[in-house]
Amino acid sequence: MKALITAGGHGTRLRPITHTQNKHLIPIANKLMLAYALEYAHDAGIDEVGIIINEGDTSIAEAFGNGDSFELKIKYIEQSAPLGLGHVVKIAESFIQSDPFVFYLGDNILVGGINKFIEDFKANSSNCHLVLSKVPDPNRFGVADVKDGKIIGIEEKPDHPKSKLAVTGIYVYDSHIFEAVNNIKPSDRGELEISDAHQYLLEKGYSVSYSEITGWWKDTGKPSDLLEANRLVLDNIKDEREGTIDEQSTVSGRVVLGKGSHVINSNIRGPVIIGENVTVDGAYVGPYSAIGDGCKIVNSEIEYSILMHQCRISNISRRIEASLLGSDVELLRSQSKPITHRFILGDQSRVEID
Ligand code: DAU
Repeated sequence: MKALITAGGHGTRLRPITHTQNKHLIPIANKLMLAYALEYAHDAGIDEVGIIINEGDTSIAEAFGNGDSFELKIKYIEQSAPLGLGHVVKIAESFIQSDPFVFYLGDNILVGGINKFIEDFKANSSNCHLVLSKVPDPNRFGVADVKDGKIIGIEEKPDHPKSKLAVTGIYVYDSHIFEAVNNIKPSDRGELEISDAHQYLLEKGYSVSYSEITGWWKDTGKPSDLLEANRLVLDNIKDEREGTIDEQSTVSGRVVLGKGSHVINSNIRGPVIIGENVTVDGAYVGPYSAIGDGCKIVNSEIEYSILMHQCRISNISRRIEASLLGSDVELLRSQSKPITHRFILGDQSRVEID
């Protein structure tokens, strides 16, 4: 069994962050998003992984190299343009060859890994195994029409969904999927849709089985999804404090405090992860915050937020919450009294509040 993982695409809904970095490298609980997919693949006993990247994007290979640190063999496959998930599968055929494989959308995060879905695929001797999840807003996803325990139809982002069962970004295939992607036509938006490939398999009478995720799953398309994914992962962290905490500080709950970090006269309330060489001085860091390496938070309050590397926040009077800050962002005290702070800032942004 191999795995094919996506790290290409547009990332438009996560601008400005994605103006300067690939969205699959955004940290969730201080770990790169794509690292979760690689770990799940390794835990499922997979050792060969193909990663789809946009043409000319070297950042993914710079982050994960040949895969040694995940005990995986990684091959990077360039996609000329984001022409759809059907196109992704098509261009991976020479890498996959005749092996069964897991197709995993790199922006999906779930609890519990993917082993169960591979087992279900094998147990059902399916040609294609889909992972479904009940959602309140199915029109954002591929949607499965299920009758008497069988999938009878799949539609991509339908205006009038036939069920609340979204097709998540985890699929297990045998090589019949190549017949499907080689026979479908681009959709109205010009993409080879993976849902059309699934519909093709159904119409040709191939067996398409499914599992339903009962736990947590998220497609991290929007900033609010990233914060929710961050919350989910932080809910499961273990206490691990390597930095220093002075006597004037209170640290409660599960807190990861990286090497070289200092908590001075501050209140940290977990679950929180703080990277290396971070200074928290006269500040409050509240639940579900992930603070990247080298950040400095002084006389300010923050919670339920993600700060990437080297951010500096100082003397902000209102608590910052539900915010996503790219690397090297600076927030400084200004004159006015804003009622709330909500930020979505790209790398190297600088904000001064009056
Ligand atoms: O997350 C589940 C959903 O993923 C499914 O319910 C939909 O049926 C499926 O089409 C897909 O929809 P999205 O609109 O969420 O797909 P998105 O364009 O966000 O791309 C998903 C991943 O694939 C992401 O890692 C980017 C990457 N990608 C996407 C395209 C279109 C590529 O690498 N190349 C591409 O051409």
